[in-house]
Amino acid sequence: MDLSIIIPTFNEAENLAPLLAQVFQVLRDNEIEGEVIIVDDDSPDRTWELAEGLKTNYNGLRVVLRQGEKGLATAVLAGFAAASSSKFLVMDADLSHPPALIADLYRALDNADISLASRNVQGGGVKNWPMSRKAISWGATLIAKFLTDAKDPMSGYFALRKEVLDGVTLNPTGYKILLEILVRGRYERVKEVPFVFEDRKNGKSKMSSGIITKYVSHTWSLLKVARTTRAQLVRFLMIGGIGILVNLAALWLLVDYGSLHYLPAAAISFLVAVTFNFAGNKLFAFKDERKDVGAVAAQYTKFFAVSVGSLLINLAVLYLVVDQAHIWYIIGQVIAILAATAGNFTGNKLWTFRPSKTVTKAKDLKAGALRAIIMGYMHGYDGNKAR
Ligand code: GDD
Ligand code: MN
Repeated sequence: MDLSIIIPTFNEAENLAPLLAQVFQVLRDNEIEGEVIIVDDDSPDRTWELAEGLKTNYNGLRVVLRQGEKGLATAVLAGFAAASSSKFLVMDADLSHPPALIADLYRALDNADISLASRNVQGGGVKNWPMSRKAISWGATLIAKFLTDAKDPMSGYFALRKEVLDGVTLNPTGYKILLEILVRGRYERVKEVPFVFEDRKNGKSKMSSGIITKYVSHTWSLLKVARTTRAQLVRFLMIGGIGILVNLAALWLLVDYGSLHYLPAAAISFLVAVTFNFAGNKLFAFKDERKDVGAVAAQYTKFFAVSVGSLLINLAVLYLVVDQAHIWYIIGQVIAILAATAGNFTGNKLWTFRPSKTVTKAKDLKAGALRAIIMGYMHGYDGNKAR
């Protein structure tokens, strides 16, 4: 079996027959040995029943009927679980996703781990979309830019190698299962294939305002784990903001309750805040996994040096802006803080928390796969279970 095509359906009876005819035609034309898994959530229009009936026409058609459970993302995960090949493709049932692209997405997996039908690359786009839908999509994609470098992470038409999900726990609350996979999955290469999304002709979209609220909370949970520099910067700024409060709280305690002079108290508060920021940046912003005492001590030293360096940048920029450019010192300090923050982020990203050279991400993945295979042999399990 080459490919498992997962098609979630909810009230798609009108679209099912033409869709399946086209999908199986594409599989035949391209000599792809594929199965089609319809995952239906007990549609009131009995899509599942129609699908069951069509099984006699199509060898390779399978139906998963879910009762008491609803939701696009969990339906897709149920499809993955039922799939019997090592390559998965997900598409909508409403003919918005031209089946001809199945072959392109499938072939793209020869040199990529994930392929997606993209509206946002040369040759892609949307057709017959109302202004409101365009606006929502634009806003949603803008938020997603923080989480992934893919140009159309909101696409519902994509394919992937099964290994991308090995050892990965997906959070299926979101509508946007591809986004979830792009943030949490284990992969190196993504290929975007241009396509034009046509609004459905039959039936109704299941998009609603509830889904928008869910999207916002979904992206928020992804922001906590995303690996892009933009997501790291947002987390770095959050830690920095809390760090200011930590600094102020320490200062207040030392002066009011410790009866210290405010200058030595400020020096101690600085140390407390730097230590807080170090921990927050290591664990939350940069997700650095080095744990041995020597490595952490070296990182702490670097972090401290970067903090002092940022203070020097602050003073230098403030001096230049006020003394040379004759700008009001308050505005000058705003500019100086921005410069110091940029220096702080860059210094810590490229130096303090730079991934160690011996274990780059790619090597880590390969080493993990190898370990899993060896363990599998030793325990007589398959590689996946061993992990
Ligand atoms: N099983 C199941 N359960 N299927 C569902 C459910 C559900 O709760 N909700 C929707 N579906 C199915 C639909 O029957 C259809 O085949 C597909 O999922 C997409 O649903 P639509 O209602 O057509 O979604 P859309 O057009 O608003 O959104 C599409 O475009 C977005 C990009 O703008 C989807 O492809 C999204 O994934 C995509 O992000
Ligand atoms: Mn649709």
